[in-house]
Amino acid sequence: MNEQIPELREPLLQTDRVPLIAGNWKMNLDHLQAIALVQKLSWALKDARHDYGETEVAVFPPFTDLRSVQTLLAADKLSLVLGAQDVSPHESGAYTGDISAAMLAKLEARYVLVGHSERRHGHGESDELVGQKALAAHRAGLVPMICVGETAEDLEEHGAAAIPLAQLAAAVSSLPKDAEFVIAYEPVWAIGSGQAATPEQAEEVAKAIRESLRDLCGDERAAATRILYGGSVASQNVAGFLRQPNVDGALVGGASLKSDEFAKIVQFKKHVTGA
Ligand code: PGA
Repeated sequence: MNEQIPELREPLLQTDRVPLIAGNWKMNLDHLQAIALVQKLSWALKDARHDYGETEVAVFPPFTDLRSVQTLLAADKLSLVLGAQDVSPHESGAYTGDISAAMLAKLEARYVLVGHSERRHGHGESDELVGQKALAAHRAGLVPMICVGETAEDLEEHGAAAIPLAQLAAAVSSLPKDAEFVIAYEPVWAIGSGQAATPEQAEEVAKAIRESLRDLCGDERAAATRILYGGSVASQNVAGFLRQPNVDGALVGGASLKSDEFAKIVQFKKHVTGA
């Protein structure tokens, strides 16, 4: 018999989760503009002597930009990591307009967003489909970044954590136990609204997500998994989120399109220490 009861659980194992700052460009910038932005961003981070081992930096350009950005990263030996914004749940075949996980892996993408609220709401993507996409990504060697979050109505009706936790369980249960993934908690009401959650609100849900991960995939995986906050993140507010014990990074939309602003967000540790 398992005598463990939730209240008496040991604290989570301490692991060294490397913070991740991810820029979701959404449907912005053609491939030439993408190259210009990545060049400016890498120069700004070089000037700031950014240590990519200390804080990982990823960009999520539109599909049509991926090859150009990949070529630039390889040619200039840049340490930025590449991600894609969506993926087909299918391996290959008659799926007009879709992009497979294998195609993304071939472009050396490491991450792929699944379940972003703009896909869930704008394209009617269900929890089941999000789970299938996460699995397709995992099978191709990519790391799915599973996005979860509540609408303003959900918040009023169910509180902050209920919907994100249900979305989390649906997606994670479709993956094998040892699969690596990242969680992005993005309250829908905070996305693109200029009205970010407070650091305390973000921490409350991130903590609930980590607790839930312990049940879904064990203490070790829960302790190692990075949980990002997203929704109107900017250089002025990023440090408050990253100071929270269960928030390990940020998924940044609008502010990732400006190289200087995004570089400042990546440098959040300087804001934390006031340096
Ligand atoms: P935002 O978008 O930073 O513009 O609010 C975040 C996101 O949708 O990932």
